[in-house]
Amino acid sequence: MEDAEIMDALNSYYREDMHYESGRILSSMYTAPPEVVLSSFFRFYQANLGNPGLYPGTVKMEREVVRFMGKLTGNSSPFGHVVSGGTEANITALWAARKMGFRRILTTEDVHFSVIKAADLLGMPVEYVPMRGFVMDTLALEDMIHDGDVVVPTAGTTPLGYIDPISRIDSICAELSCHLHVDAAFGGFVIPFLPENIDFAFTVPSVKTVTIDPHKMGFAPYPAGGILARENIFERIRVDAPYLIDGKSETLLGTRQSGSVAASYAAILHFGMDGYRDSVTELMKRTKYLVNRARECGFEILTRPVMNIANIVVDNVECVKKELLKRGWAVSANPKYSSLRIVVMPHVRKEIIDEFLKELKKVYG
Ligand SMILES: Cc1ncc(COP(=O)(O)O)c(C=O)c1O
Repeated sequence: MEDAEIMDALNSYYREDMHYESGRILSSMYTAPPEVVLSSFFRFYQANLGNPGLYPGTVKMEREVVRFMGKLTGNSSPFGHVVSGGTEANITALWAARKMGFRRILTTEDVHFSVIKAADLLGMPVEYVPMRGFVMDTLALEDMIHDGDVVVPTAGTTPLGYIDPISRIDSICAELSCHLHVDAAFGGFVIPFLPENIDFAFTVPSVKTVTIDPHKMGFAPYPAGGILARENIFERIRVDAPYLIDGKSETLLGTRQSGSVAASYAAILHFGMDGYRDSVTELMKRTKYLVNRARECGFEILTRPVMNIANIVVDNVECVKKELLKRGWAVSANPKYSSLRIVVMPHVRKEIIDEFLKELKKVYG
């Protein structure tokens, strides 16, 4: 087949997909990255950090990305890797914890499903700590916790963007032999730029590992998650791999798409601390705008957003979601809270918010 025909064939499928540029994906923690960031991806898309001995340059970029994420999480010398996403990061952290002898996972019902997958893969029992005010209830945790547990709080929960009280969890863990892994896949690139000073990662002494994803609020293209550790947990999961240049493998995946390592580094250079701060400030303003406009339109907001995630209460949330999708709008359903969840990413501009609320009024007026 000629190249042009191949592209024609692909384009017909492309037209069926939704695209961030339309602004109508309100359900995703991703956004279309700047041009320079995308070009960096394609420049390095054949790099494979599964075999790092071939790619010393890309290894250096990975270290820079890890160092930057260390800065965001309060660790000036973190161990870490850029992995395929928050799922791989959480599996890696819990895999290492299991190898250290920790077994039972204590978390909340709002934990991301990747922790449940990890628990299933690793044969680790999960117990849900009750929630109070949409976060982990630390009094309940105190009653449940034992030596040998892994506590997994979330800093930026998937449904609401709320932050479990990690400092208070730390004071409970400190008296026991417990492990603390924080899932800041979304919040890691947000919390450091909020006006409130919130300890959520390595500034909290018991925190051993942190998930923080460049391909969410770091505005890098996927696949780019991050796993950071206070100590070298990667030694615990390392295996011999004689066919590789370095003869070892210390991440869950073998072959690793590493264009996104270059792109994550480019995103960090492009935005820097100031650019990320400006983005978070702007997105929080837009989230407030969404909340105010939604209330003016007669909708109920579930709870005050802490990050750039807002929830509009509706009945029959799955039906409303489906109807919106038919009309070209993607929102998430939070059946537990009977709400529609909107992630206010950079492509969710004010005029998009206005248009969306108009459409929602038609569907659910
Ligand atoms: C808090 C949290 N952790 C982990 C993940 C999983 O990340 P990924 O989809 O990159 O594997 C998500 C995804 O939305 C998330 O919100």
